[in-house]
This record gives sequence, C-alpha cells and structure tokens, in this order.
Amino acid sequence: MITIKDKTFVPFIASEAIQTRIRELAEQINKEYAGKQPLLVVILNGAFLFAADLAKHLTIPCEITFLRVSSYKGTASTGQLKEVLGLTEPVTDRDLIVIEDIVDTGKTLYDICNQLQAQGPSSLAIATLLYKPEAIQQPLDLQYVGFEIENRFVLGYGLDYDGLGRNTPDILVLE
Ligand code: IMP
Repeated sequence: MITIKDKTFVPFIASEAIQTRIRELAEQINKEYAGKQPLLVVILNGAFLFAADLAKHLTIPCEITFLRVSSYKGTASTGQLKEVLGLTEPVTDRDLIVIEDIVDTGKTLYDICNQLQAQGPSSLAIATLLYKPEAIQQPLDLQYVGFEIENRFVLGYGLDYDGLGRNTPDILVLE
C-alpha cells in the first residue's frame, strides 16, 4: 500500500506478472518483425520502464527514440495535448512501434499517431502495457497490449499521480 498526498493505492499487478507479460510481448514482436529494423518511439514519461524492460528482450535490431507529451493533471484526463516534444529522426519509410504506458481515452495516442502517419512511415504499430477499454473515446488499432484493465486510476511502474509514484516495480490501483 502507498499513500501519495490525499490518495491511497493498493496492490494491483505484481512485478512478476508484468515481467512475464512483457517477455511474451517481446517474443511476439521478435517474430513479427523478423528481418526488419523497427524504430521504437517511446512516449515519455510514463513508458520509460515498460520500454526499457521490453527492449531488453528484443533480439531483432531496433533503434529507440523518445517523444514527450502530457495530457493528465491529477487523476482525470484533460483530453488536451499540452506538450509534444518532437522527434529528432525522420520516420519516413520506417517501421514504427509506438510504446505507451496506458491507453485511457486514447486521445493522446490518436494525436501522436496522426502526426507520425503524416510523415509517411512504412508501418505503425502500438505497444501499450495497459489498456482501459471502457474509457476509450478515440478508435485505435492496438497491436500489442499487456493487460486490459477496468476503468480505475493506476499508479507505479512508470505511471504517476501528480508526478509521484512512478518508481515502483508493481502496479497499484486507487483504493
Ligand atoms: P489518454 O489520452 O486519455 O489515453 O491518456 C493517456 C495518458 O494519460 C497516459 O500516457 C498516462 O500518462 C495518463 N494516464 C491515463 N490513465 C492513467 C492512470 O490510470 N494512471 C496514471 N496515468 C494515467
């Protein structure tokens, strides 16, 4: 159990389950991208741990780059993309795998994917550790999903509550 400011979070997904699922996703990506050299586009800050653990299990050659956005304040999505710090490398004709921590309303990834598609990649896939199907408001094609979860606020393993709580090996949920 962790208390951050006014909120208490209780255990939800244990580190061992997270790591097992990430290895499965990596195996799937290794098979499906055999012979290719994808560019992993990691959405900061939340996906930093997921991306690091996933990348360790990828045996295909791949490059890694980072995008920074923020659309959350507190425990509810504002739905507005406040900040996008752009890509430094060209994505035209590249096989992109966008790495995200969680898909909630889907608005963040929808915007990001539109901006990436406008640059003409060869392909674009999404890998998200968590997905809240009940919260989705923008249709998204999610190729790699770690866990489908109910529509509750989660914390840890990269996910924060007002900037805190990202550095836990487990995922917790708001009590
Ligand atoms: P969306 O645009 O509503 O899909 O929100 C996506 C972003 O909101 C994610 O990348 C997270 O940073 C944040 N987010 C969504 N749900 C949660 C949550 O349950 N806990 C912490 N952050 C969340």
